[in-house]
Amino acid sequence: MMEDFAQRLIAWQRRHGRHALPWQQDRDPYRIWVSEVMLQQTRVETVIPYYRRFLERFPDVASLARATLDAVLTLWSGLGYYARARHLHAAARLIVNEHSGRFPRDFAAIAALPGVGRSTAAAIAVFAYGERQAILDGNVRRVLCRVFGVEGWPGEPVVTTRLWRLAESLLPLQDLPVYTQGLMDLGALICTRARPHCDLCPMTECIARVTGRQKELPTPRPRRDLPERHKAVLLLWHAGEILLERRPPTGVWGGLWGLPECEVEAGPVEAAQALGCQVERVEGLPRLTHDFTHFRLVMQPWLVLVNRPSRLAEADGRRWLSLDAALDTALPAPVRRLLSVLVPGEIQP
Ligand code: ADE
Repeated sequence: MMEDFAQRLIAWQRRHGRHALPWQQDRDPYRIWVSEVMLQQTRVETVIPYYRRFLERFPDVASLARATLDAVLTLWSGLGYYARARHLHAAARLIVNEHSGRFPRDFAAIAALPGVGRSTAAAIAVFAYGERQAILDGNVRRVLCRVFGVEGWPGEPVVTTRLWRLAESLLPLQDLPVYTQGLMDLGALICTRARPHCDLCPMTECIARVTGRQKELPTPRPRRDLPERHKAVLLLWHAGEILLERRPPTGVWGGLWGLPECEVEAGPVEAAQALGCQVERVEGLPRLTHDFTHFRLVMQPWLVLVNRPSRLAEADGRRWLSLDAALDTALPAPVRRLLSVLVPGEIQP
């Protein structure tokens, strides 16, 4: 298996892999970079329409560097993991300022761009320049753990180190783009997390398959419950409009637009009044949870009908927006979910 892993994968990719993805149509490093960043935590089907819109609006590094962060975040809205958009924007400016506007050719320089880790840099170097570099994203970790029977949670540093060594040792001497795409395709189409299609897989001697341990490999992350953080959020509603506020540039959902928050112990009426709004009526909506890597956010939304909004509410990066306009801005996913179930006609004082 070790000896012909790469050749089997290349043959399989040519016959059964994906060849018509929008970012496979040329070798422009800028376009490949954008696609790889979008694909970091997001599925291909979700990425495709965002990728097309993004490239239409920002066809090259210069146009992305000239854009405001807000314009970039708006186009990113709904894709999630917004640090990716902030890094992309910062990296475009860095390329203009420090690389004369040309996407870097050197692997170390690519890997030094904000938001580009070792695996993403390798994917760009392979697809844009045909370089011989190993990738190791979540899909590839799963494939390697199963095929070669690598034990231990891949997030464990010793396991990560082993997997990188293995990934490098498997690299063929040529056809790097086909090989690399093959790894991605095998992970996405055949060696899926739940119920892999082993009957269609070219890796017939795969350890997980031969020993029936597809469910146990890769070893799952040791389970621990996430600590919870509770927040109340205010849906301040006046004349068909809702009050949004810009979140600070760093931290959770940095730079996105969100709802005004208050501590759970504080009453929503007092919090609304602190923003200068005169309150007509308050209604509690069902709680919402959102898991981050290190904690679970539990949000208690309060629908607050306001009969007299004040100028105060519009200071400090806040603005009243119609529901449609609000849904067109860069919102965190749970806030978007919350707003998208509101129906203006049904909200009556
Ligand atoms: N996931 C990460 N990069 C990818 C690519 N270039 N094609 C398909 N899936 C991917």
